[in-house]
Order: sequence, then C-alpha cells, then structure tokens
Amino acid sequence: MKQTIFNFFVLLLVISSCKKEELPEPIIATESEIIETYASIKSIIDNNCVQCHAIAQNPYIVDFTSYANLSSYLDNPDNTMIDRLNSDVEFYKMPPNGELSQTDKDLLISWINDGYIL
Ligand code: HEC
Repeated sequence: MKQTIFNFFVLLLVISSCKKEELPEPIIATESEIIETYASIKSIIDNNCVQCHAIAQNPYIVDFTSYANLSSYLDNPDNTMIDRLNSDVEFYKMPPNGELSQTDKDLLISWINDGYIL
C-alpha cells in the first residue's frame, strides 16, 4: 500500500512538472543585428553625395555613382570616408554643408564597417 501511495505521488509529480511548459523567448532583432546592403544605403549616397561625386559633375573628385566605384574607393585602406562623415572640420567634412542626419550617417558607417556588401 505504501508503495502504491508513493508511486501515486511520483506520478503526480511527473505530471505536474510536465505541465510547466514555458513558452520560448521571442527573438528580438536589435538594430546592431541588421546588416545594411548597398541597396539599403544607395539612396543616402544618391541624395547627398552624387550631386558632386559624379564624373559628369566633377571629374576631379572620386565618383560614387556606382557600387564598383564606391567599393574600390573603400578598398583603399587610406580612404577618409568614415573620418569625413564624422568630421566637423570645414573644408574636410562630408557632405560639405554637413546636412546628413545622424541616422543616415550611422547607416553609412555601419554599412562600411560591416564590409560594404552589395
Ligand atoms: C557640394 C559637393 C559635395 C558633396 C555634396 C559631397 N562631397 Fe565629398 N568631396 C567634395 C569635394 C570637392 C571633394 C574633394 C576635396 C576634398 O578632398 O575635400 C570631396 C572629397 C570627398 C572624399 C575624399 C575623397 C578622396 O580623394 O579621398 C570623400 C570620402 C567624400 N568626399 C565623401 C563624400 C560623401 C560620403 C558625401 C555624401 C554623404 C559627399 N562626399 C558629399 C564635394 C562634395
């Protein structure tokens, strides 16, 4: 009899512990997990840089109208892109009028730091 009662409680324990199913934690993507691509940042370049950085506009400055040109500029370890985007120095900062929003700046910089993928 004692054994039966013991078994009953063991069974009860097993059943009750089975009921405590926990829902899996939702996966929340944080901003840092989003990888920018050329397609997602192209409009920032088009709207803020290519009015000057286009061969047709100015053959003496680097052309950013295509991924090929932009990425080959960034391939140069001496490029000043991030430095200029972050700069407040007149005649150095880019764009020269400094009217790039912090969000657009951050998007461009993270795209570059993530390896400027196409
Ligand atoms: C109003 C015209 C103008 C706009 C808009 C502009 N630039 Fe420039 N940029 C220039 C000129 C002129 C130079 C060359 C003179 C110099 O080095 O400062 C230059 C140089 C640069 C250089 C250095 C190139 C090198 O030879 O190493 C980078 C990087 C750059 N710009 C990035 C940008 C980016 C990114 C944007 C857009 C967010 C932008 N520029 C918008 C005119 C512009």
